[in-house]
Amino acid sequence: MSDLIEGYIGKTTNGKKSRIPAKLDYIQSLTGGFLAIFMWGHMMMVSSILVSKDFMYYVTKFLEGSFIIDGGSPLMVSIFVFIVFVIFVVHAALGMRKLPSNFKQYQVLKAHTKSIQHQDTQLWGYQAFTGFVMFFLGSIHLYIIMTNSADIGPYASADRVWSEWMWPLYIALLLAVEFHGTIGLYRLCIKWGWFDGKDPQATRKRLKKVKWALTGFFLTLGFAALIVYMKIGMEHADKVGEKYVPTSMIKEAK
Ligand code: HEM
Repeated sequence: MSDLIEGYIGKTTNGKKSRIPAKLDYIQSLTGGFLAIFMWGHMMMVSSILVSKDFMYYVTKFLEGSFIIDGGSPLMVSIFVFIVFVIFVVHAALGMRKLPSNFKQYQVLKAHTKSIQHQDTQLWGYQAFTGFVMFFLGSIHLYIIMTNSADIGPYASADRVWSEWMWPLYIALLLAVEFHGTIGLYRLCIKWGWFDGKDPQATRKRLKKVKWALTGFFLTLGFAALIVYMKIGMEHADKVGEKYVPTSMIKEAK
């Protein structure tokens, strides 16, 4: 019996302290940090549509490796998405350890959160909820992009958003990702003491301001891009499947 209890408090059954929970936390931070930074890059690429259709087309070709292979290859994108997908699954699996696993645990957590009125504990609650949402929505998006990597571009993406009904999913995913990612980065800074300086409490306040600013920035950028994809998708609805031809190629053909 005592072996069993010790097992629960992080010791192995032979009485030694186990380092595994700490190692898993470390991997969770590493994968979460990677995904959050990746999402900043991702939102920048997605919002290339705000500049022009031509610009988004060339960004897509660049990601297909047009600088190495003539004309680029969508396979490069599929391989990259697969790697991101694996990291996403590892991160989600490690996050799952922290979620309440039955109604009683959920009640205790809720009562505790309410009683201590601690902002960072509330943030943890939002992160757990948005993480749960992403299990489903993130997986759908990653699988579709991985298996349809040849269909990324000004018209193909806009058709997916509008004619293939991805926009409702993207609205929910965008909200979940942006809150989850910035809260996650904030928590990383607090957990590992980055930027602590001489006055960790003052740093915490400043970090929280930066966190909200980043959430606001990426939500604005993301929704602006989504509106543009929806508009292009509506205008292109009767030509679904037609690929975008950049202006320079039309000029060459003339
Ligand atoms: C390598 C992996 C990924 C690639 C190549 C990729 C690619 C894309 C592309 C091309 C779009 C534009 C719409 C479309 O074509 O359907 C898009 C939108 C979006 N992606 Fe990803 N994505 C990746 C990973 C992720 C991940 C991990 C998440 C979050 C879990 C995510 C969240 C979103 C959201 C929220 C949108 C809508 C953004 C907006 O319209 O403003 N993506 N993605």
